[in-house]
Amino acid sequence: MYNSYENSSLVKVLSFLKSHNTEYLSGQDLSDVLKISRVAVWKDIKKIRQLGYKIESKQKLGYRLESNTDRLLPWEISTGLKTKIFGKQTYFFDSIDSTQTQAMKMASENADSGTIIIAERQTDGKGRLNRKWISPKGGIWFSVILRPKFDISVITLFPIASALALSNAIEETLGIKSELKWPNDITIKNKKVAGILVDASIESNKIENIILGVGINFDVDVKQIEKILKDTPNFYGVASLSEQNKTVNPILLVQSFLRELEEIYDLLNTGNTKKIIKEWTKKSSTINQNIEVNTENRKIKGKAIKLDDDGALIILEKKKNIRITSGDITYISKL
Ligand code: BTN
Repeated sequence: MYNSYENSSLVKVLSFLKSHNTEYLSGQDLSDVLKISRVAVWKDIKKIRQLGYKIESKQKLGYRLESNTDRLLPWEISTGLKTKIFGKQTYFFDSIDSTQTQAMKMASENADSGTIIIAERQTDGKGRLNRKWISPKGGIWFSVILRPKFDISVITLFPIASALALSNAIEETLGIKSELKWPNDITIKNKKVAGILVDASIESNKIENIILGVGINFDVDVKQIEKILKDTPNFYGVASLSEQNKTVNPILLVQSFLRELEEIYDLLNTGNTKKIIKEWTKKSSTINQNIEVNTENRKIKGKAIKLDDDGALIILEKKKNIRITSGDITYISKL
């Protein structure tokens, strides 16, 4: 596990190599300038290489950083991050059961609001409605710990607002337009490219913390995931962002999402929810669609007409408006 404030000698060596990447630096130079032992420098260089950075070494000359990594390492996320608090504390795992479970544990141990937990692979990823979330290497899997000021009544809008922030970030960094499918899926050509999971801890009608889980199919094997998920109820296909744009850097996408999320979070905290509803509706593939929803009691079939102020979906069924607050919707061609 790596985080933003430990591993400081490694980060010092790496930063120095980054800022002097046109020249060779000897182990002795690094040791003198950074005031760490030569053995520590050597160990750090070894670890930096293991993390995926390429360091050239030439006899008598020393080391030179040849290329960076695009792994979502805490110091890579924080460099150039334009947020006030989100992502200032970042924890990174090569592999974990679920970032969501880990974040809940850290939140109960008083982790700061805005802390993020990222993993390259999850062995027990959680999806909505107690489903599995397949999380192989190549995807972007993370959870954000938040301690909002907003009232509990706003909480239902939060997943919707987060999906909007992610769709905005995808467009900003990759130039790819995505659609929003109620309640909080992000789709491309009606296939799921990302999902949002929100867990909240509530005490005496007040929000103690919210854990926002974000799963992005960034560069994953779509066929393989579809094979595993094909029998899941309401499964409608998977898309990977890399099919659309090969060149994007995942670090830029996460940074952009955190900035968008912070903006939207401020809107929620100041009661400015109208803007979120309006923007979500503009990007939504759901509004004006004929849909089918299985609720606990019965099947609803109707036209999705609008998002209510709290994020519920209003469906027109046989001239009657019906509100749904959770569940999965399926698009249908005819009523
Ligand atoms: C959905 O079902 O659409 C929500 C999927 C959310 C998946 C993310 S991946 C990071 C975080 N950790 C988890 O175990 N789940 C969420």
